[in-house]
Amino acid sequence: MANVTVIGAQWGDEGKGKVVDWLSSRADVVVRFQGGHNAGHTLVVGNQTYKLSLLPSGLVRGKLGVIGNGVVIDPEALLAEIARVRAQGLTVTPETLRIADNAVLILPVHGAIDRAREAARGAHRIGTTGRGIGPAYEDKVARRAIRVCDLAEPETLSHKLDELLLHHNTLLHGLGAETFEKQALLDRLLALAPDILPYAEPVWERLDDLRRAGKRILFEGAQAVMLDVDHGTYPFVTSSNTVAATAASGAGIAPSAIGFVLGIAKAYTTRVGSGPFPTELTDDIGKLLGERGHEFGTVTGRPRRCGWFDAVLVRQAVKVGGVQGLVLTKLDVLDGLAELKVCTGYRIDGELVKRLPAAMGAQARAEPVYEVMEGWSGSTRGARSWAELPAQAVKYVKRVEELVEAQVTLLSTSPERDDTILVHDPFEG
Ligand code: IMP
Repeated sequence: MANVTVIGAQWGDEGKGKVVDWLSSRADVVVRFQGGHNAGHTLVVGNQTYKLSLLPSGLVRGKLGVIGNGVVIDPEALLAEIARVRAQGLTVTPETLRIADNAVLILPVHGAIDRAREAARGAHRIGTTGRGIGPAYEDKVARRAIRVCDLAEPETLSHKLDELLLHHNTLLHGLGAETFEKQALLDRLLALAPDILPYAEPVWERLDDLRRAGKRILFEGAQAVMLDVDHGTYPFVTSSNTVAATAASGAGIAPSAIGFVLGIAKAYTTRVGSGPFPTELTDDIGKLLGERGHEFGTVTGRPRRCGWFDAVLVRQAVKVGGVQGLVLTKLDVLDGLAELKVCTGYRIDGELVKRLPAAMGAQARAEPVYEVMEGWSGSTRGARSWAELPAQAVKYVKRVEELVEAQVTLLSTSPERDDTILVHDPFEG
């Protein structure tokens, strides 16, 4: 029995929440392995809408949730999210949620640095969520981060805070922002410790046990391949690796255990924040896609930039992300459009290229080369079989498969969990 890993194949917000929810009802455990509360997963279950940022989506289905070492955890945001979903009737206890004791913590100082640096960048800002994700990952790599396990050792915590604040207060001071006082931060963390520590453990061991017991593990990615710190549109990216390989290192499990890799892509493209977006539409069609697709950021509420499906980008995400099967979402948003365009290449400085280059300037100059397809007049919304789809919609999906060099495993036709066309069961490998 295979495990399944789900990652985004564009710039995020592809509808991973629904897919993960659909899959988690068939899994035993759901694992987050990178990112933090910059992610926003919306799950519609009956008449309840859950907005999760840090908690693994499987909790909504009563499945064990695991937050792996690759995640950066804001302990205050985590406790607030737990309180919020509890108020909606969910059970979250140390029996249903486990957190890696070696995961890195996001502290208030990280958010302050994130926002101060963005303000200093002015027009060149990345458009981060301002939640301290980047600075927390920087501290991890710089070997000065506070980790979950440090909450159990007040002395260690105190020493580490000295080093951490020496670095950050120097920066904050230079940026003209308010600095942090060590004792206040220490007291704040020690006050949180009794609420966080009951969830903490070496999750790699639990995952190893679960795997050997034949349990189904679902690895839930956040953000997407084009926001990957190595493979994305750097520097307009997040600060973690979002490719499927990260599921192994970010949870502490063998690469061979991550199972079948599903890449989620919208039938068109969106992006929040700054950075290159070759197929962006600033016209009425872009506006229509945004309105019909309810394209507003789950975390920040920012309107998302919208554009045509970029097959070059998704093909690249399939290759570098390790995607074995594609989930195409929000096809219904394209219903009724007379003509559809799909990007099949870029023209950069007069040359036709079939990949997004690494250099920032070349990315910004990439002009999309389109293949024009006829639209469909019928509705795809809520379809649960290929037979219910207009012929032209099927053609569109088939062409996407060809261009991105991956087969569609699932087609999602509305936000409702059961409005899905299953082509291949990913848990069968
Ligand atoms: P950060 O992750 O807050 O540092 O933001 C870096 C970039 O990633 C910004 O462009 C954000 O808008 C984008 N980003 C971060 N998380 C998400 C997400 O869950 N969906 C879409 N974009 C995201």
